Amino acid sequence: MIMYFTKGFLLLHTLLVLLLPQFDALQDTLTSSKPIRDGDLLVSNGETFALGFFTPGESTNRYVGIWFYKAPEQPVAWVANRDNPITDTSGVLSIDLHGNLVLYGEDQKKSIWSTNIVTNSNDSIILAQLTDVGNLVLFLNETSEVLWQSFDYPTDTFLPGMKLGLDRTTGLNRILTSWKSKDDPGIGNFSFILNTNSSSPELFLYKGNILWWRSGHWNGIGWSGIPTLSSNDSVMYFNLFNSEYETSTVWGLRYPGASLFSRLVLNGSGSIHRFVSAISDQEWDILGTVPLDRCDNYGKCGAFGKCQIQNGTEFECTCLTGFEPRSPSEWSARNATSGCVKKHGGGIRLQE
Ligand SMILES: *[C@@H]1O[C@H](CO)[C@@H](O)[C@H](O)[C@H]1NC(C)=O
Ligand SMILES: *[C@@H]1O[C@H](CO)[C@@H](O)[C@H](O)[C@H]1NC(C)=O
Ligand SMILES: *[C@@H]1O[C@H](CO)[C@@H](O)[C@H](O)[C@H]1NC(C)=O
Ligand SMILES: *[C@@H]1O[C@H](CO)[C@@H](O)[C@H](O)[C@H]1NC(C)=O
Ligand SMILES: *[C@@H]1O[C@H](CO)[C@@H](O)[C@H](O)[C@H]1NC(C)=O
Ligand SMILES: *[C@@H]1O[C@H](CO)[C@@H](O)[C@H](O)[C@H]1NC(C)=O
Ligand SMILES: *[C@@H]1O[C@H](CO)[C@@H](O)[C@H](O)[C@H]1NC(C)=O
Ligand SMILES: *[C@@H]1O[C@H](CO)[C@@H](O)[C@H](O)[C@H]1NC(C)=O
Repeated sequence: MIMYFTKGFLLLHTLLVLLLPQFDALQDTLTSSKPIRDGDLLVSNGETFALGFFTPGESTNRYVGIWFYKAPEQPVAWVANRDNPITDTSGVLSIDLHGNLVLYGEDQKKSIWSTNIVTNSNDSIILAQLTDVGNLVLFLNETSEVLWQSFDYPTDTFLPGMKLGLDRTTGLNRILTSWKSKDDPGIGNFSFILNTNSSSPELFLYKGNILWWRSGHWNGIGWSGIPTLSSNDSVMYFNLFNSEYETSTVWGLRYPGASLFSRLVLNGSGSIHRFVSAISDQEWDILGTVPLDRCDNYGKCGAFGKCQIQNGTEFECTCLTGFEPRSPSEWSARNATSGCVKKHGGGIRLQE
């Protein structure tokens, strides 16, 4: 349990449950007159997701996030102020005069986080609703026009129904970025990006700006490098949209609401896991992982290097026979990206 609820919230919640009919007790919508304070919760209408303030791991900082409400361990799927923690319980998330979702801490003059959209809708009513797929949607009540949604700004988690990739009409590119550590949801070193530059899109995993792993191209069924982890089956579906409007990829559950939870997470050391859990389960199971193993990383052992997982902790890269590391110092630091070169002073040369 990484969540922390104030006594005030528990008391308030108990009172609400006692005083009001059950369907009024859980709110899924934020209005300009009803902000969310630290300790309050928004709960989606099927009670799959909750939004509120949380403290990750061993940290003492407070963040606004969305987490699985009824699943084991209540894992966090999205974080608003990931690089701007609040250090106390003064946080308030509200809709401001301009229709933006804004997060304030102690200092009421300087916002900690905001959706930063420009609206020219003076008198319209703008609401923020947490939907049952885990998307926080800011919209005009009159027209249902979506102004902003958390699915467009993923953190480390790719949820069913979410899109990764480029919206060509707005220029928005949705990517995953790892947490710094389990105690810090700040932007870490790994990113998972749909490369939309070529006519044949491909998923790239980067460590900083080094290409770490690639999925292979979309072959119409799945990603060619991980066919068993990306093709339609009886539980999940996968798709790629590639048009003048967007280049994006999506995955989802065939039977949403069937009490099955699932999420794809880029962890702090660059592993991507697909987790599943049923509503009655006590834990999450890992359904698939990429990169598949240490040799699966892109260009792992460089030119003229080969990769083979050794027993134990040995380095998995070796040079082909007759070759040696181009940079012995990098090699001894287990960085083989500059590969191997032909050995000098080998037998052949002596015979010249
Ligand atoms: C919004 O309200 C302000 C002040 O009442 C007014 O000056 C402005 O023209 C209005 N904008 C729109 C788009 O209605
Ligand atoms: C949103 O619009 C509906 C009708 O479309 C109305 O019943 C509801 O009261 C409005 N919500 C708010 C908060 O104004
Ligand atoms: C990210 O990479 C830099 C450079 O390699 C390293 O100093 C830093 O500790 C890394 N950060 C995390 C959160 O792993
Ligand atoms: C795609 O092209 C743009 C512009 O040339 C570049 O900034 C970006 O890094 C490229 N993306 C990838 C994934 O190669
Ligand atoms: C996979 O399932 C999705 C959703 O049902 C569908 O749109 C897509 O065409 C399917 N892909 C294949 C290769 O059948
Ligand atoms: C990421 O996943 C890998 C593979 O399961 C694991 O070895 C590693 O400890 C994980 N890293 C973090 C930061 O959780
Ligand atoms: C790893 O070690 C086990 C037992 O020590 C041995 O049977 C196996 O052949 C080794 N595998 C490799 C790839 O060296
Ligand atoms: C490995 O070495 C290459 C070439 O010198 C360098 O560009 C890269 O940053 C190094 N990679 C890591 C993970 O340190």
